[in-house]
Amino acid sequence: MKGILLHAGHGTRLRPLTHTGPKQLLPIANRPMSEYCIESMKETGIKEIAIIIGGIGAQKVKDYYGDGTKFDVHITYIHQDFPRGISHAISLCEDFIGNEKFLVFLGDNIIQKSIKDFGIDFEKSNAGASILLCEVDNPSRFGIADIHDGQIKKIMEKPQNPPTNLAVTGIYFLTPIIFDIIKRLKPSKRNELEITDALDMLLNEDHKITYNMITDYWKDTGTPDDIIHANGIILENLSSYFDGENDGTNKIEGNIMIGENSIIKNHSTLNGPIIIGKNCIIDGVTIGPHTSIGDNSILTNCNLQDSIIMSDCKISGDIKIKNSIISYNASIISDPVNVEKTFLLGEGTKLIL
Ligand code: DAU
Repeated sequence: MKGILLHAGHGTRLRPLTHTGPKQLLPIANRPMSEYCIESMKETGIKEIAIIIGGIGAQKVKDYYGDGTKFDVHITYIHQDFPRGISHAISLCEDFIGNEKFLVFLGDNIIQKSIKDFGIDFEKSNAGASILLCEVDNPSRFGIADIHDGQIKKIMEKPQNPPTNLAVTGIYFLTPIIFDIIKRLKPSKRNELEITDALDMLLNEDHKITYNMITDYWKDTGTPDDIIHANGIILENLSSYFDGENDGTNKIEGNIMIGENSIIKNHSTLNGPIIIGKNCIIDGVTIGPHTSIGDNSILTNCNLQDSIIMSDCKISGDIKIKNSIISYNASIISDPVNVEKTFLLGEGTKLIL
């Protein structure tokens, strides 16, 4: 089986974080979220992957994944000129896929459980497609499947009155039949060629679509809160390591991952799960739980919880930061004496003081 990873789109709901790169490269536990999709595909036995790129930061995706050798897969890049829909992105891969069954993964979907067995079952089955469903609280935000007597009867995109709360997750096992279907699709209300419309047409043309339920963690990381939540869950499941230095004055508990050359000093308190990258200085800081700190960051005297701090950041002073995402190379300096605040903020920045 081959794989397709969707890495294009505008990521508008995640601005300003996506002004300089695609949302799928935003880090969760210090790795781009799309890297978890590649891991998942690899585990399913997929080594040939097409990555759909487009828009801002397409080059960054190429720079990060290269030809795939570093990740033990082979990557082909396919350019999408504009986000014309998931089905449109899939249609660009017809030559790449040829005559094989294949797996499509949306690069902003995080799943914890292995999908290997679903892939094996699909390879053996005569179904036209197989999807993964997950019960959600807010079904009108997703593609939804209507099911009767264990059979999928209808699939629809973000219905106003959802008949079920069964979200169609962004992980689709497909056969090349879908290419002919997509050629006959009409753009939706949001002017996209929807994958849900393609699947529904498949059903209407008497092809079987099987499904499996995801009962473990699955997240479409559409909003900053979703990313912070996924970060916490992924951190809880990593194995701890301590490759940095501890000056012996610190209080450290829980699941902690500390990278090479990072120094924890001066009565810092680390309350896991936490990941700290390489070459960081953690000086008199309280961190955790559920917090990721990227490489080369310098933190002094502050307090961080449920947050993602990317690489090369500087945060100092008596400030408590919670539920936040701080992008690369940002500085926050809190000076209790000076009540005047100085800001240099990018477009779409959100500050709650
Ligand atoms: O996450 C599951 C949901 O994903 C499904 O329940 C929906 O049925 C499906 O339509 C999709 O909904 P979203 O509105 O969340 O899709 P979004 O526009 O965020 O795009 C999903 C991913 O695909 C994202 O990583 C960007 C990428 N993409 C999207 C489009 C429209 C592309 O690469 N090219 C595109 O043209």
